[in-house]
Amino acid sequence: MSGGQSLRCLVGASMVALAAAKFSSSVVASRGWNAWTHPGRWLERVMRDKPDGYIINFGAHLNLNAPRTMYFDPVSVWQRKKTARGLAVDADDDMKWTGPGVARRTTFIEPAGVAALLNETRTPPKPRLLKVDIDSFDAVVVIAVLEVRSPDFVYVEINERAPPPTCYCNDRTSPRSWRRLANDAYGCSLQGYVNALAPRGYALVGVAFNNALFVRRDLAVEVAQDIGGRLPTAAEAFAAGYAKRPDRDAVFPWNVKKKIFYDDQLPLDVRLDAMEHYPSFALSVDANQATFVREADDSFPCRSAVPETHSPHHELFRSLADGTTNHSRQYVAAVHDVLYGKGPAADQRAKARDRRGKGANAGAVV
Ligand SMILES: *[C@@H]1O[C@H](CO)[C@@H](O)[C@H](O)[C@H]1NC(C)=O
Ligand SMILES: *[C@@H]1O[C@H](CO)[C@@H](O)[C@H](O)[C@H]1NC(C)=O
Repeated sequence: MSGGQSLRCLVGASMVALAAAKFSSSVVASRGWNAWTHPGRWLERVMRDKPDGYIINFGAHLNLNAPRTMYFDPVSVWQRKKTARGLAVDADDDMKWTGPGVARRTTFIEPAGVAALLNETRTPPKPRLLKVDIDSFDAVVVIAVLEVRSPDFVYVEINERAPPPTCYCNDRTSPRSWRRLANDAYGCSLQGYVNALAPRGYALVGVAFNNALFVRRDLAVEVAQDIGGRLPTAAEAFAAGYAKRPDRDAVFPWNVKKKIFYDDQLPLDVRLDAMEHYPSFALSVDANQATFVREADDSFPCRSAVPETHSPHHELFRSLADGTTNHSRQYVAAVHDVLYGKGPAADQRAKARDRRGKGANAGAVV
């Protein structure tokens, strides 16, 4: 879907029913979402009662030519409006596209500098929305904002490879030396966010693929009434918004083999063993940047709820990871083959690997 179409779709909720027919040609299906979770329309719902609400947008980079921008970046699209109020921050975008009511800062976001930044930009005490998508220590930044401001809603990118109750989170309070050690070694999983936000007064509204919406508790009853009387558990929200979506693999083709982590046909202990040795997670845990907990209780940073019990595959998965320390893609493919059987693609990969010699494609971390 082009940027122009995206904008037109955002213009009015009344167009939504008409536009639904157009969405069906997209890989993103419109079924199965509610007004608060639909990836392209949740923001309209959030802003409906406060159209001039202030929005903090951390990780604001906008590429209108990217496919499906309206689904994955409706906040930045909103901030192009003349009437939009808020703050847009990104490390590598000058954000000249914002409306006149939006302050811009091109800078890295440091948790320690968040309070001063919000003061300097006169961010009000209760913004309508905080959005964070900075692909690093996002949860730490969310916490830093919540120390000094109380947004009505919080919308965060989640690391969708670790479904609840598993917690993977870059959660250190001092992330100065943080580095992205592998493609999937960033951010925080849904369980991590639920645990971080609950004691700060926020409840989960729902998941939209790799994003999650939270609401401040004094507004939660109203939202719950709107979606059938109660808010979902983390597991329900993840199933509805990611794991069980019929368009999941079409929208996230790079995650197809990572269903080893969330396919509930597989026993939980097998999936936990597979995740525990996933190089993207293990690298960042070993580097003391992130926490990984197989089955978390409700603490933050995450802690184990139960003693670990391993599956018969545990040692095998460990050995697959040892052979491919920095190669999450190879690890995922190998574990997938173990669990689902080796396909022709796997044979071709093995041959290619033999030709290149092991470890030749160190850059190909997925
Ligand atoms: C931000 O402003 C508040 C209220 O004026 C003040 O108490 C606080 O110290 C300021 N924080 C920073 C880091 O400037
Ligand atoms: C993994 O690969 C990246 C880039 O290819 C490299 O910077 C990093 O040091 C590697 N990590 C390990 C533990 O080998």
